Amino acid sequence: MNNAVLKTQFNLEGVSLFRRGKVRDVYDLGEFLLIVSTDRLSAFDVIMNEPIPDKGKMLTSLSKFWFNHLGSVAPNHYVGTDIIERYPVFRQVSSLVDGRSMIVKKAKVIPFECIVRGYLMGSAYREYLKSGTIFGDKAPENLKKGYKFDEPIFTPSTKAEEGHDENISFELMKSSIGSLAETLKSYSLKLFEEATNYAITKGIVIADTKFEFGIIDDEIIVIDEIFTPDSSRFILKEDYDNGFVDKSMDKEFVRNYLSSIKWNKEPPAPTIPEEIINKTQSRYREITKMIIGN
Ligand SMILES: Nc1ncnc2c1ncn2[C@@H]1O[C@H](COP(=O)(O)OP(=O)(O)OP(=O)(O)O)[C@@H](O)[C@H]1O
Ligand SMILES: [Mg+2]
Repeated sequence: MNNAVLKTQFNLEGVSLFRRGKVRDVYDLGEFLLIVSTDRLSAFDVIMNEPIPDKGKMLTSLSKFWFNHLGSVAPNHYVGTDIIERYPVFRQVSSLVDGRSMIVKKAKVIPFECIVRGYLMGSAYREYLKSGTIFGDKAPENLKKGYKFDEPIFTPSTKAEEGHDENISFELMKSSIGSLAETLKSYSLKLFEEATNYAITKGIVIADTKFEFGIIDDEIIVIDEIFTPDSSRFILKEDYDNGFVDKSMDKEFVRNYLSSIKWNKEPPAPTIPEEIINKTQSRYREITKMIIGN
């Protein structure tokens, strides 16, 4: 059944649109926010026309699982997913919110992306190929893509309002937000360690991930989504062990397809063939099942 949700627009008493992101529609509920994860797919920061049916439900289930599992490592914004019980006005639009929404605490967003990398991949690998450095530090020669770092590294970036985020040094982050930066780094590394330890027991390598943090009354909390395939690079352990480090469990088929047609990464987005959509959906399904079961 294809009942994908591409966009929501609620006209409900006491509910106003707070922000529409690339993937999530966020509503203001007064004390709390409602994050509705749609089935929108973004690649290279452009939203595709085709949805991945149920992706928003899978992302919501995963974030909920991890917020509960990691709540003792760092506080987070999770309040609940029992939307209609708490806010009965949503009954009229239940098919648009059921399973894909989360009530969260409203925080002041700290404008940095807190990235942790356990492996040499992505932009870290591109930098290494170009200049032989890893985030500015001289690195040994002949490292392979997917090389496992001795210790995971914290590599923040700015959260750009428009366009692409930009990697910055930890020093620059400290000069901008002071000792807060140390707290974000420490939380990020601890969360990464706990989650990777868990994931490996399920046959999954988490190569890297991104967190966002916010502040409520001087308390720093994890916000947004956590350890989903949209925010993390998951590789099956079996694939990793066999050297297939590029076979990540997320938008790999979409990215490969977009490269194959030499799309210039500028809107409008090209049409994505159904086969690619289906394969991508299967990847999201598989990873969700492996992490939380069912
Ligand atoms: N607890 C929270 N309080 C306030 N804002 C939040 C909270 N959790 C998430 N957000 C914000 O909600 C939005 C979620 O939407 P989405 O992830 O689709 O946006 P995005 O396209 O990635 O945009 P951005 O670049 O702003 O993150 C993000 O802007 C995120 O910072
Ligand atoms: Mg986001």
